[in-house]
Amino acid sequence: TKNLVIAIDGYSSCGKSTLAKALAKKLGFIYVDSGAMYRAVTLYFLRNNVDISNDDAVADALQHIELNFHSRDYESHITLNGEEVSDEIRLMPVSENVSEVSAHKIVRHEMVKQQQRMGKSKNIVMDGRDIGTTVFPDAPLKFFMTADPKIRAERRFKELESKGNNETTLEDVFENLAHRDYADTTRKESPLVRAEDAVILDNTDLTQDEQLAFALERVEPLL
Ligand code: C5P
Repeated sequence: TKNLVIAIDGYSSCGKSTLAKALAKKLGFIYVDSGAMYRAVTLYFLRNNVDISNDDAVADALQHIELNFHSRDYESHITLNGEEVSDEIRLMPVSENVSEVSAHKIVRHEMVKQQQRMGKSKNIVMDGRDIGTTVFPDAPLKFFMTADPKIRAERRFKELESKGNNETTLEDVFENLAHRDYADTTRKESPLVRAEDAVILDNTDLTQDEQLAFALERVEPLL
């Protein structure tokens, strides 16, 4: 059987991972959350005070990072050197620093290499910012997701709330999304941009089921 890669890119908190997980579950594909990789690297850098302006320190730190995904019920769990960090990487200290870390050339180079390896022989759905442009430019199906920024902030805020957050305000979340969108679209190394052949999916007014149906309609001819 051939291996199929579905690339999902878009702005922060647009529901990329929700759609990617639903698609993977429906199709029996592996879901890979590329953002979780940049977040886990950021967590390592924060914990170990890695100086991002020092290329040698960054390269050396990357040598000491091992990331692994464990898919349980299509929820993606990531380990950093064997430690489960799936929850910690969603908190504000990481969210506030991840754009800077992910803009680093050496970091991107290493993550893209690992991501490409994961898509080599398997059917996968991968979400991120540069999956359809840089990681898998030849992917047969690409989505570019977007939604109203206020709606996105509300969704992410509710998600944080449901996980017991009571420190971060809606305003903080909105600011963080705006900052990350700006940083992600203006950075030099593989900025967030829609691949020419990506299907645009604006989900401001769509339910999760409607998004899944929209995506499946485009996958089915490829199966
Ligand atoms: O997808 P998520 O919002 O968790 O990603 C966190 C951050 O990681 C993004 O704001 C972006 O800076 C970075 N990222 C990236 N390239 C990817 C995935 C995420 O630069 N493919």
